[in-house]
Amino acid sequence: MDNIKQLIDELRNELNENNYKYYVLNAPTMSDKEFDDKMAMLERLEKENPQYFDPNSPTQRVGSDINKSFKQVTHQRPMLSLANTYSVEEVEEFFDRVKSSLGNEPFQIVGEMKFDGTSISIIYENGHMVQAVTRGDGTHGDDVTDNVRTIRCIPLHLRPGSGFPEHFEVRGEILMPWDVFDALNKEREYNEEPLFANPRNAAAGTLKMQNSAEVARRRLDAYLYYLLGDNLPYDNHYDNLMAMKQWGFKISSATKLLNNIEEVEQFIAYWDTERKYLPVATDGLVFKVNSLRQQLNLGYTSKNPRWAIAYKFQAERECTQLQSVSFEVGRTGVITPVANLAPVLLSGTIVKRATLHNEDIIRNLDIHEGDMLYVEKGGEIIPKIVGVNLNMRQPNSSPVKFITHCPVCGSALQRIEGEAAWVCPNKYACKPQITGKIEHFVSRHAMNIDGVGEEVAQQLYNAGLVTNIADIYDLSIEKLMTLDRFGLKSAQRIMKGIKDSLNVPYERVIFALSIPYVGETVAKKLALATNDIDTLMSMSVEQLSAIDEIGTKIAQSIVDYFAVENNRTIVERLRNAGLQMRLTEEAKPVSDQLSGKSIVISGVFNHHSRDEYKRMIEANGGKNVGSISSKTSFILAGDNMGPAKLEKAKKLGIEIINEEQFLAMLKQE
Ligand code: IVH
Repeated sequence: MDNIKQLIDELRNELNENNYKYYVLNAPTMSDKEFDDKMAMLERLEKENPQYFDPNSPTQRVGSDINKSFKQVTHQRPMLSLANTYSVEEVEEFFDRVKSSLGNEPFQIVGEMKFDGTSISIIYENGHMVQAVTRGDGTHGDDVTDNVRTIRCIPLHLRPGSGFPEHFEVRGEILMPWDVFDALNKEREYNEEPLFANPRNAAAGTLKMQNSAEVARRRLDAYLYYLLGDNLPYDNHYDNLMAMKQWGFKISSATKLLNNIEEVEQFIAYWDTERKYLPVATDGLVFKVNSLRQQLNLGYTSKNPRWAIAYKFQAERECTQLQSVSFEVGRTGVITPVANLAPVLLSGTIVKRATLHNEDIIRNLDIHEGDMLYVEKGGEIIPKIVGVNLNMRQPNSSPVKFITHCPVCGSALQRIEGEAAWVCPNKYACKPQITGKIEHFVSRHAMNIDGVGEEVAQQLYNAGLVTNIADIYDLSIEKLMTLDRFGLKSAQRIMKGIKDSLNVPYERVIFALSIPYVGETVAKKLALATNDIDTLMSMSVEQLSAIDEIGTKIAQSIVDYFAVENNRTIVERLRNAGLQMRLTEEAKPVSDQLSGKSIVISGVFNHHSRDEYKRMIEANGGKNVGSISSKTSFILAGDNMGPAKLEKAKKLGIEIINEEQFLAMLKQE
């Protein structure tokens, strides 16, 4: 072995070891700086010596954005599910069944958390991870190895000399921690993308993403709870789990050996409340017979093992009094009713408020003043009002009335036809609409001006410094420093953000304006279709709705926005301040070769990622569509295009073009 290879191996071992200490044991020994330096060195060495490439190198945890459709794999052993119980009595019955089936032989139980994520089976050979497969239908699953490789706490190489068998399988649960879930949903809300209902859906959705670089960014977590194979180190489940921990796997510290039914009951009582403080979602507990010999004796029903049972926690529900309903005004004027509740403890947090979303929800639940309301926090994090306790309703109480006028500026509310929302029409003088627009304008996906959040936006407005988004460009260090609790540093930070925002591309400027219904995606489409803001401002509803994916509702909203003189003045002032008001050269379409063509991308590619092909199609005037129809112009196909798609294409007589042909096609002209 040459010196370079030896150095590469040493670095990989050190980085793997640190990963284990950081992500599994929660006790890193290397500083972040040292870790980054070593990683950079390893990256460089691997780049210079491609013959030593290893898909399991710590450098590969960042993922790739090359598209891959998932290969279907048959599980070596089917992945069964557990029978559920919902009460301590049912768990006692399970215990008694086991006892009598084992002929009164003594037995131990392992108590575990029932993690609420998505299950995974991972195969290791000679200490290396070789394949990770989703549960699928229990018999076949999807090969998601590339995505699982990005999860830091899952070892790619086991710790040398820790005594693992040559070949084995581990099973566990992939989870999205609550904090990652919250941040992801915030971002999605911002981008007007549908929210994930709970971390389980988010984890499952993430694991099935085509782009493993995005998976890496989402910081999934995992706990392993099952070891399978022919040469297991111990004859019982608990010791095998502890051995797995030594090899490098993350095993929940809640896992506990229980000697009798009393200990089982204590375990339930403890976790019934304590689980609320865990960083990941759990929906119950699992009890497993410890001895593998006894497990074998007990066997399986057609669906579940007889040696294990799940105990499901009750969805947390409380009944509390509605004290009042308040009405909030958002940046686009939409009024949201919020229930103010008598404080109540639910899943570890005190709930005092819950959104009622819109008037229809209040009507459907038939909520009256002072009602006792059921509040639930199940898999969903946001407390939800699920019903009214009618037995406790005050006689003569009246239904909650929706307001008719804006609670802030007093304008008469309007209800847009076909929509559930009431809106305050006073767009340019109603305070929360203005401060909301300021907050939106400075946010990360818009102009990205650091240092201005909800509070500062209000301070700026209250001080009369910023009463519309254009005023931001009249700010100065001196003016900012007149604000309460503002030092030189924070003022300088905002001024730098303002200066940098002059380079933010045109499409994000459109997004930053807060035109109703113009989210990030729509803004991008508008930018590409219009080239500059003067064109956009001069277009009619008909012209705008001729743009791909712009409907009349959006078109009308844009026309309405620019019809207001105040908005046109703001745009002029932003232009004079130096903001980008036209498409930059690199964002411009490079040709119109594919204009009018609808193109489906399918399969796995070698030269460019799916996203890059999508960009190329759009840059050449084409449209990338998701599914094959008679309107599809052609299919850009990589390897392993799905058989169903292939058949459909053949049936409809649609041309299939491979990567090389496509690239050659764009090179002509
Ligand atoms: S053991 C044959 N242990 O719950 C038994 N499962 O319905 C295999 N789960 O699909 C599963 N936490 O996704 C086991 N500590 C735990 C678990 C657990 C969560 C999930 C798993 C499984 C489902 C069972």
